[in-house]
Amino acid sequence: MNIPSIDIDLWSDDVLANPYPAYAELRALGPVVYDAERDVYILSRYDDVRSAVQDWEQFSSASGVGVGEQGNRFGGSGILTSDPPRHEQLRKVMNPPLLVRSLSAHQTFIDEVAARMVGDLVAKPSFEAVSELAQPFSIDVVSSLAGFPEEGREHFMRWADAGFNIMGPDNALAQEGFAGFYEMFQYCFTTLTPDQLADQGLGRQFYAAGDVGNVDADACPGLVMAVVWAGMDTTVNSISSSLYLFGQHPDQWQRLRADRSLLQSAIAEILRIEPPVQRFTRVTTSEVDVSGSTIPVGARVVLLFGSANRDERRFDQPDVFDITRNPVDHLAFGRGVHRCVGASLAQQEVKAVLDQFLDRVETIEVREAEWRRNNSLHGLERLVVSTS
Ligand code: HEM
Repeated sequence: MNIPSIDIDLWSDDVLANPYPAYAELRALGPVVYDAERDVYILSRYDDVRSAVQDWEQFSSASGVGVGEQGNRFGGSGILTSDPPRHEQLRKVMNPPLLVRSLSAHQTFIDEVAARMVGDLVAKPSFEAVSELAQPFSIDVVSSLAGFPEEGREHFMRWADAGFNIMGPDNALAQEGFAGFYEMFQYCFTTLTPDQLADQGLGRQFYAAGDVGNVDADACPGLVMAVVWAGMDTTVNSISSSLYLFGQHPDQWQRLRADRSLLQSAIAEILRIEPPVQRFTRVTTSEVDVSGSTIPVGARVVLLFGSANRDERRFDQPDVFDITRNPVDHLAFGRGVHRCVGASLAQQEVKAVLDQFLDRVETIEVREAEWRRNNSLHGLERLVVSTS
């Protein structure tokens, strides 16, 4: 099958703010399209994206999971940017403390942070949900779990934004991101020494694994950086998107208030319709057939999670926000060996925040909403809401 070339720039300002119409065009064109400008193949349909993320042998992460070659040089051989067996070794260290049963020990703490923050905000006539809630909540929860000191936390959002921007093509956002990424790298690899990490936190556990030889000692700062890079800004987007979606769909909010057993299904639907991570890439290790189209060996392939989750071939009326849908097979966390290691924590955070709103407010109204521009993420830059 011929692979059509496209002239849509998925990383243009307009598409980054609202990528969904462009994704629908790509899905209609065929299973694979080629972007000559950036020299990448793009998969946009659910079945194809899902098969590719599950096939690490043909779709490798080891040459980076960003688009531009410059950004990919910075990934090193970290958890996100390695293949088994190296990846397996890193995963074995990061997985256990982020499993549901380990996280249950932190349930009370996470609920208390949510109760304090949401309680203060709903008492105000209106509030800005990104900077006043989603960001401080996620930074507080994840930094405490990781055992990060207070000093430095004020930079985490800027660094993560930069980190996800350098994963785009070599455009202006990526260029601007390199300075912030470098600061994050310096902090994790040089400034933050193991003795500054709290005793019981994730960070110390990573270093302890290095001390006993479960992982190369030089991989430990990289695991710490994975938490700063991937562990907060992602969840921030889910929290603010959830308030946006319920503000825009008051019937769905009332439905959830009437039946709180729908909360897990609602969170899956929020992640399906507004996945914070929109796209990562892989490199083919052999010639690969994707639904009848042949991608050559050594090609960089963009996997559009945001498009797969809206594929009409998989989800009925995919642009409709329906909290009863329970789309457990959404691809917001990826799938296969690289499936998000923080997925349970992220969902626990979103649930803690929504539980507080459910306890306290009957209505959520969106006053102002502005979508951010980031090469890999989709979420709100600013969201003013009032509740009653
Ligand atoms: C709603 C929030 C989140 C979303 C949507 C999300 C999304 C993703 C996705 C799509 C991947 C797969 C990458 C790939 O296939 O190449 C991933 C991997 C990863 N995520 Fe998350 N993530 C979230 C929260 C978190 C949290 C809370 C943490 C840590 C505390 C975290 C840490 C990581 C790490 C370290 C990886 C790499 C795993 C690997 O390559 O084996 N993420 N995430």
